[in-house]
Amino acid sequence: MTSQDSASKSQSTLPKTVVLVGLMGAGKTSVGRRLAEMFDSRFVDADKEIEQAAGCSIADFFDRFGEEEFRRGEERVIARLLRDPPCILATGGGAFMSGDTRREIKDHGLSVWLKADLDVLFERVARRSDRPLLLTENPRATLEAIMEQRYPVYAEADLTIDSYRGPIEQTVDRVHQKLLEYFTGAEGAVS
Ligand code: S3P
Repeated sequence: MTSQDSASKSQSTLPKTVVLVGLMGAGKTSVGRRLAEMFDSRFVDADKEIEQAAGCSIADFFDRFGEEEFRRGEERVIARLLRDPPCILATGGGAFMSGDTRREIKDHGLSVWLKADLDVLFERVARRSDRPLLLTENPRATLEAIMEQRYPVYAEADLTIDSYRGPIEQTVDRVHQKLLEYFTGAEGAVS
């Protein structure tokens, strides 16, 4: 059983949903899964939910319906997930670019930007070929262009954590620590 579908994790210690944002390769899914365990919470991956709702992969969705339709579906799915009990929610890299989604997250969750530099991101995304936006002649240049466009918007997230090269556990520990500080300081105790 994955943490995504674990019914036993409905009693999370999180006061509100933690929404991981950041570029492809930032580590949202890997960090999110581990964080969910630490908070005894569910882990939900918005991309997986979109795939489930659509009955096809993200790549196929882009092929069949295009990016605009994907973005509309992404907004709907994230708005729905934010109304569920608190969880750790990983979002696709483009999700936070939607003003509606940013407002939904402000109202119902806490956004955490996993910030990484281009070399680290590219090393990670180069291992996979299932990201439709990077199927270009020069995926590194594409990633850099997307990064320049998105980083000023990601900077609006409530918290920012650097995601460096090296063991993912170090990033997880930094996010965990920052969340504990945030929740105990700003939102009341986490049990
Ligand atoms: C996208 C990122 C992907 C996925 C889709 C579009 C983006 O998710 O949602 O391919 O616009 O950056 P990951 O960030 O999890 O790779």
